[in-house]
Amino acid sequence: VNHLSFPGEYGTIYEFNTNEIIDHGILETTSNHIVRKVEHIPSGHLMAIKYLIIPQTKYKESENEKQLKSLMSELETFYMLWECPEIVDCYGYCIHEGHVLLCMEMMDMSLRKLYIEVRDKREVFAETLVGYIFVKIINALVFCKEKGIMHRDIKPNNILINKK
Ligand SMILES: Nc1ncnc2c1ncn2[C@@H]1O[C@H](COP(=O)(O)OP(=O)(O)OP(=O)(O)O)[C@@H](O)[C@H]1O
Ligand SMILES: [Mg+2]
Repeated sequence: VNHLSFPGEYGTIYEFNTNEIIDHGILETTSNHIVRKVEHIPSGHLMAIKYLIIPQTKYKESENEKQLKSLMSELETFYMLWECPEIVDCYGYCIHEGHVLLCMEMMDMSLRKLYIEVRDKREVFAETLVGYIFVKIINALVFCKEKGIMHRDIKPNNILINKK
């Protein structure tokens, strides 16, 4: 907790400090989370930070427990999976002002966004690209299965891609 490390810089561990990041704005807001584009000054890395609210209400204890379980499960599974080349890298997570800040590799866009771009240009997906993405998804799912994890929410919004 409160430490960051980046692949390719093995052994270097940064202490997370909110004074040492530059916020470049919101990447995406969903019903549950905000994801922001952030620069980590000491390392020079760009990161995507997903802000997960730590459930704290003293009322509705069972609801609270459920949310806490889901938060822990997201952190634990991500930590188990990020070494898979087809799964977004996790740089670490930090606790700040009632949130868990999940710091991860910055991706260009979701498959859904790419699909909308292609559709709006009235183009079609190249078959080779579809095949390429599909194989990557299968590889990631095989990795998950080997770790005993089932994703349960595979959809274009949750497939992130880099254009290069
Ligand atoms: N590492 C990242 N780089 C770039 N964009 C990201 C990254 N992580 C998330 N996003 C953007 O934020 C959106 C929401 O992220 P995510 O799917 O993790 O949250 P959610 O949809 O609220 O949660 P869940 O999918 O678990 O219901 C993604 O669809 C994507 O557009
Ligand atoms: Mg999602």
